[in-house]
Amino acid sequence: MITDTAEFVKRVDGAADYIRNALSGRVFPSVCIVLGSGLGPLSSMAEEPLEIPYKDIPGFPVSTAPGHKGSLIIGNLSGKSVFMMNGRFHYYEGYPMETVTFYVRVMGRLGVKALLLTNAAGGVNLDMKVPELVAITDHISFNAEPVLRGPNIAEFGTRFPDQCHVYDSELTDTLVNCARDLQIRISRGVYAYSKGPQYETPAEIRALRIMGADCVGMSTVPEAVAASHMGIKVAAMSCITNMAAGITGNPLSEQEVLDNAALASKNSCALVKEFVKRLEFAD
Ligand code: HPA
Repeated sequence: MITDTAEFVKRVDGAADYIRNALSGRVFPSVCIVLGSGLGPLSSMAEEPLEIPYKDIPGFPVSTAPGHKGSLIIGNLSGKSVFMMNGRFHYYEGYPMETVTFYVRVMGRLGVKALLLTNAAGGVNLDMKVPELVAITDHISFNAEPVLRGPNIAEFGTRFPDQCHVYDSELTDTLVNCARDLQIRISRGVYAYSKGPQYETPAEIRALRIMGADCVGMSTVPEAVAASHMGIKVAAMSCITNMAAGITGNPLSEQEVLDNAALASKNSCALVKEFVKRLEFAD
């Protein structure tokens, strides 16, 4: 939890200044894309890329999750200047929530207007088909460490932010329309946040289904909450890499998640590229 707000803001602004200086002479991106499982190939699709390892950015954490790299890429995608986070930070890695969401705060201070979060998730809704894509319309995170606990930083946002529009409906519609036009299967759904790193129990999955969840995963919600707190518009997309615990009778494995994320990779990358193309404020 943040205790010294002035020190925290200084750390965020220090990281933002470093990135701003590194960007000198380039068109400043208005969108940040977080490359979840299966989206890694997008990192090499940017034109004129500038790659900044997280370890070079003062105050930035370094990600430890398997399959997650650790660099910020600035480049042109579909003719637009974008930030791409190749690797994110998860609560299960041991970071406090302000560290999980640190990059979101930096993006907000850099003036980013839209954040596209992508992730791998387990299918809770029995109609889901692996490896389909889901446009996240809302989330459930009752059991999570609250992201905004501690003193509020008024420069970032309000003390009690409304949560009715965490996921921007226009951006989400754009995502769904892009998928339809590319003939990629996508549904809309509610994402349940699971702290991890252990997968859920079958009883937890049955409970989540009754509560209205369509999919479940260990990321995205902290970042979406921090971004919407700062007024950044959020769109989020899951790739259903497995049916959630207890549905097929098979044990869940990280390999299954990575294999199915890779299977969906072509579609996920094509969809994100089309989405960026249609963003109106992306430069
Ligand atoms: N549960 C939680 N996180 C996940 C899952 C799951 O079933 N699949 C991919 N990430």
